[in-house]
Amino acid sequence: MPVIKGTKDIFSPEIGVFDHLYSLVDKIYSLYGYEKIETPVIEYTDLFSRSIGGFTDIVQKEMFTLQDRKGRNITLRPEGTAGVIRAYLDNNFSQDPGVKKLYYYGSMFRAENPQKGRLRQFHQFGSEAVGSLSPLLDAEVIFMNWELLTGLGLKNLALEVNSVGCRLCRPSYTEKLVQFLNKNSGALCENCRTRKDSNPLRVFDCKNPECQKAFERAPLLTDHLCKECSGHFQEVKQILEQKNIPYTVHKQLVRGFDYYTKTVFEVKSGSLGSQNALLGGGRYDYLVELLGGAGAPAVGSAAGMERIILALEEEGVKVETAGLKRVFVATAGTVDRTLLLSLPDRLRRQGFQTFLSYGEKGLKAQLKEADRLGCGFCLILGEEELKRNAVILRFLARGEQKEVPLEEFSSRAGSILS
Ligand code: HAM
Repeated sequence: MPVIKGTKDIFSPEIGVFDHLYSLVDKIYSLYGYEKIETPVIEYTDLFSRSIGGFTDIVQKEMFTLQDRKGRNITLRPEGTAGVIRAYLDNNFSQDPGVKKLYYYGSMFRAENPQKGRLRQFHQFGSEAVGSLSPLLDAEVIFMNWELLTGLGLKNLALEVNSVGCRLCRPSYTEKLVQFLNKNSGALCENCRTRKDSNPLRVFDCKNPECQKAFERAPLLTDHLCKECSGHFQEVKQILEQKNIPYTVHKQLVRGFDYYTKTVFEVKSGSLGSQNALLGGGRYDYLVELLGGAGAPAVGSAAGMERIILALEEEGVKVETAGLKRVFVATAGTVDRTLLLSLPDRLRRQGFQTFLSYGEKGLKAQLKEADRLGCGFCLILGEEELKRNAVILRFLARGEQKEVPLEEFSSRAGSILS
């Protein structure tokens, strides 16, 4: 049975890279005061259509939606923000003092056309911080992630920032945009012509080269920001400069979600092809209110694990996966089962990943297996040596071996093998 298109099995050694990345996320996000949250993979469809927006590509074309037994529509989460904010409201996190900072990682699902770096089930880590209007929080989310990505060893990174304004400045800008789109509707695809009347800003998500060409002359939101939004954007940029984070302003960056306000950002990798966005995010000051809470401003980000791993591969960055020292316990001749049970226990207690041969294999085959498993050492329990209360310690890479007293070895394996 083949795996479903756009999904994949993840196993060793790649899964070691996933674990390493997740542990780095745990470390760095915790240092910035984020607490981990796990929300369900399925949510009511309405949560996503209301949060992400009914006219976005994700909601219109990319959601995996099914009906439960009572006929209610439920959707496999295409992203993490909506679920985290639902959880924020359901669990009364607004009662907690200060800014509530939450982070997560896990599978997301989008029915996109699979290609390199674009899957239908992919993995994100993300952060959401609720409760502050300060531009320092926007900048902090950006430099926290910059620290994480550069800390991994990625070099070929480009940070793009923009501002998409707020309730105050967006309506008058939208009017100008609609005028422009009406004038140029002949150059637009059918989808953009529909979006022009329903949700004009979403035309910028269109990938059609002719539409993109037409938009080059479109009025830009960044040039129509209100005083508050342009001041906020200025401050975010200033903080990034103070932190020596290189960025460029990408004036057409609107990102494919309706919930954004003010700052939006993306980190792209110059080492990848068309699917080069490693991380994206922004401020979303009205989402809590939209989902029924007392208004609370928020900022967040999410990054794609698979794309980060592809970029690491392209840049030849070796990720040090923390592995345990491996040891193989082999037998030669008849060996007392009590010893065969107790010795591996003692090795495991000393932190060794301990393998045994379960079959009736000869010593040569056991040594081969130990080598294949990547064990540095093999402990051979030989009938003859055991009569002298000794075992053979074999260094597999060097092919050398020596006899060591059994008791001494089992109590001090760590120092003998180091
Ligand atoms: P997003 O830009 O849709 O943002 O996704 C974030 C990252 O997930 C992308 O930069 C990309 O690396 C990865 N990604 C997205 N789609 C796929 C796919 N089909 N296959 C592989 N990787 C993919 C969000 O999801 C927002 N929720 C970010 C956010 C959090 N904004 C505020 N808070």
